[in-house]
Amino acid sequence: MLRLGILGLGEGRSTISASLASKKFKLIQICDANKKLCEERALEFDFQNWTTNYQDMLTSDKIDMIAIYTPDHLHFEHIKLALEHGKHVVCTKPFIDDLAHANELLELAKKSRKKIFVGQSSRFFEPAMRQKKDFDAGLIGELITIESHYHADHRWFLEKGWSLKQSFKWLYGGLSHPADFIRWYLPDIEEVMGYGMLSSNGLNAGLKNQDTMHFIFKAKDGRIARVSGAYTGPTQPASRDSGMSCILRGTEGASQADYHELRYSVTTKTGEEKIITWGDATLKHYFRFEGQSHHAGEYQNYLEYFADSINNNFTAYPDLKEGIGTVALLQAMDKSLETGLPVKINDILKANNITRESIGL
Ligand SMILES: NC(=O)c1ccc[n+]([C@@H]2O[C@H](COP(=O)([O-])OP(=O)(O)OC[C@H]3O[C@@H](n4cnc5c(N)ncnc54)[C@H](O)[C@@H]3O)[C@@H](O)[C@H]2O)c1
Repeated sequence: MLRLGILGLGEGRSTISASLASKKFKLIQICDANKKLCEERALEFDFQNWTTNYQDMLTSDKIDMIAIYTPDHLHFEHIKLALEHGKHVVCTKPFIDDLAHANELLELAKKSRKKIFVGQSSRFFEPAMRQKKDFDAGLIGELITIESHYHADHRWFLEKGWSLKQSFKWLYGGLSHPADFIRWYLPDIEEVMGYGMLSSNGLNAGLKNQDTMHFIFKAKDGRIARVSGAYTGPTQPASRDSGMSCILRGTEGASQADYHELRYSVTTKTGEEKIITWGDATLKHYFRFEGQSHHAGEYQNYLEYFADSINNNFTAYPDLKEGIGTVALLQAMDKSLETGLPVKINDILKANNITRESIGL
């Protein structure tokens, strides 16, 4: 059993639930700078070992691995500290928000010999896992193109103080999900361009950066893809238009994974058409709390996969290299919004002294 410490108890709530329900983890300690939140979580989970000081978890020899769920702009610092203290790391998405730190992390990971995993939760939902399995089994032939979106009414998120700061961007916080889907199937994106805007809802709420965006991508082999995100207005009923979707169009079939309705559809190369939905037991695995704002099942899926990778010494993906590659893509998207021009990923990597080889491209 891996001995776990959790940092940041907002979304970290899902990880508390996941680790307590899993046979692969022993939860040792939870930490948040907000004492009241620590007390609330201690009561909610009947788990008393909490601290407001990250150093307590870093210096504990009873902890093997730290799972990080602090605000985006703090991830780098918290990952770095964990590695320096000899801990394995899970860090939620977006992995880091500035590529300037990438080389330091690559070096630290090599020196510490600890594993790093990006908690890219959307890959670990039932429909997304099924879609990947079917694709890898050749059910839709060769990939032609991908379309993915993440649209959500996230006005509630704007109550968090850090979401209204200049450092917060929905480009990283939201579009990291569909952009990661693109890289799952087309890892080597060469160029991206897009448009973004701040909606009147976002502006009135005090958001500083774009909350509505559309992007197109070109992979090195010429294939193309697109993603979009919109975060500050109502959405359609999920039964009609899922909040997050990934559509694969292949040479012999096509498939679609829908997120919040837990729905998957596929036309296979034999012409068979299937629509699969999952029942109550699966829904309960994913959505353990009120509403659908927390989805602990995905976290349990990815934490257990990461535990297996440590115990059986294989690499769990997305790993550090893949995580940095996706941040490079997000940074290129950001630059395209800023300049109104297409941006090459290689230029972003060069500007940050990152070689393609160092991130497995
Ligand atoms: N699907 C997903 O994977 C998913 C979903 C939601 C949020 N997230 C990610 O989780 C992260 C946190 O989001 P959230 O919604 O929980 O935000 P939040 O503001 O609710 O929680 C962050 C917590 O971190 C704590 N914190 C900050 N600095 C700290 C420090 N130095 N030491 C200890 N605690 C500290 C804060 O007190 C706060 O309680 C973000 O990066 C977000 O993108 C991922």
